[in-house]
Amino acid sequence: MDNRPIGFFDSGVGGLTSIPHLMHLLPNEKIIFFADTARTPYGSKSPDTIKTFTRQIGSFLVKNNVKMIVIACNTVSATCLDDLREAFPDTPVIGVISPTSKVVANTCTSQDNIGIIATKVTTSSKAYEKTINRKSSERLNLFSKACPAFVPLIEEGIIDNEIMDLTIKYYLDDFIKEHDINTLVLGCTHYPLLTKNLKRLYPHIKVISSSQEVAVAIKYELAKRDMFAGPSDLENVFYASDLSENFVNMIQLILGKDEHELNINFKNLDI
Ligand code: DGL
Repeated sequence: MDNRPIGFFDSGVGGLTSIPHLMHLLPNEKIIFFADTARTPYGSKSPDTIKTFTRQIGSFLVKNNVKMIVIACNTVSATCLDDLREAFPDTPVIGVISPTSKVVANTCTSQDNIGIIATKVTTSSKAYEKTINRKSSERLNLFSKACPAFVPLIEEGIIDNEIMDLTIKYYLDDFIKEHDINTLVLGCTHYPLLTKNLKRLYPHIKVISSSQEVAVAIKYELAKRDMFAGPSDLENVFYASDLSENFVNMIQLILGKDEHELNINFKNLDI
């Protein structure tokens, strides 16, 4: 048994979309979440810059005695997974691309046309294509599309409205038509917040989300190491490098709780 918290991080609110899945699957586990809201989005920055930021966050989480680091961000998983594992060899580090790719490999066939939507950095890394091809027994039809405007709009809370619908159509209408896409992989942990829009705009398309799959991977890794938590009075703690009103609103929206029920703190790591 190990009652230390699990450390989660993302560039912003996106990584929070994995938390309800984790709470449902492993209700005893407690988390420390860090959102780098002051420096979001990561998805259009250089891999070197992202590496510097994520090492700072890794140090912060390890200093807070986490038992595991979960990179709740595809962009960081695509560029910094090995680097973080090397920097923190005593702490297991899990990314989101491998668990999501496993679901694609296990549920899709060569009859499917699979669209992977993600940030610019994730798309150009080809991390999804490489990982899915490694895990799949047959050659799958994979097409990727970077959608860089999604994350800034989501961070602003512009989701359930016409501006977001137009932005989705701008990126995806032609992409879906051209490749006859029937499956969309949400290769960014912010994108599950667009699930309702996507289902409304493209009702025939199956959606696979990275936020859901990471909870299953965490369970597997904790079981392997005999590290499940037992019942405790520990609280979940949320940190952001910019504690904007919008961050607080988003965290409440995603976790479905009032502000006073959540332990939300400011933490600047850029010093
Ligand atoms: N949630 C991050 C991801 O999964 C967002 C990246 C960004 O900050 O652009 O890629």
